[in-house]
Amino acid sequence: MPDLHLIDHPLIQHKLTLMRRAETSTAKFRTLLKEISLLMAYEVTRDLPLKLETIQTPMATMEAPVLAPEKKLVVVSIMRAGQGILDGILELMPSARVGHIGLYRDPQTLRVIEYFFKVPEDLSDRDVLVVDPMIATGNTAVAALYPLKQAQPRSLRFLCLLAAPEGIAHFHREHPDVPLYAAAVDEKLDERGYILPGLGDAGDRLFGTK
Ligand code: URA
Repeated sequence: MPDLHLIDHPLIQHKLTLMRRAETSTAKFRTLLKEISLLMAYEVTRDLPLKLETIQTPMATMEAPVLAPEKKLVVVSIMRAGQGILDGILELMPSARVGHIGLYRDPQTLRVIEYFFKVPEDLSDRDVLVVDPMIATGNTAVAALYPLKQAQPRSLRFLCLLAAPEGIAHFHREHPDVPLYAAAVDEKLDERGYILPGLGDAGDRLFGTK
């Protein structure tokens, strides 16, 4: 069974509908993506381990839970639209570490080429969350996970906003061991590899480049 987690909270679904609307402005789109990312991060991090720490309240001493990992969570943004999700997550977890991966498709060979890869050193005792709003063909997500797996993080998971069934199938064929979190699964891809009904080009809508 594929490890797909649909986060279909009503607030997320409502905000996603607003994002999908063609008339939604760049500013609004950005804010909505940030808000949804924050809500999704809440769910994705539900199983982060806790440990007890002795603290002093104004009233008494107590054993209180704090996040256990000494090494902070790493959020890896796939450029460039991953930035929109990253911004939301950093609002919730300001001390998370950040990595970036840049990939593009060679128009001749159609192969995915990595042009940028920078993540914190030594991921072996860190949990890594990779973010990209759209899983369409799945090519980018699949390619991004290989170098990260080589770094052998303690855990690896992927968060997107929208996914197409074709992309999910591709993702699970190549990386059945990586849990995938999405707010919605849409109908299909068009002939150019865009998600239908989707929301258009997430990068262009986020940065106002079209
Ligand atoms: N990337 C996008 O931004 N939108 C799509 O529909 C597919 C890939």
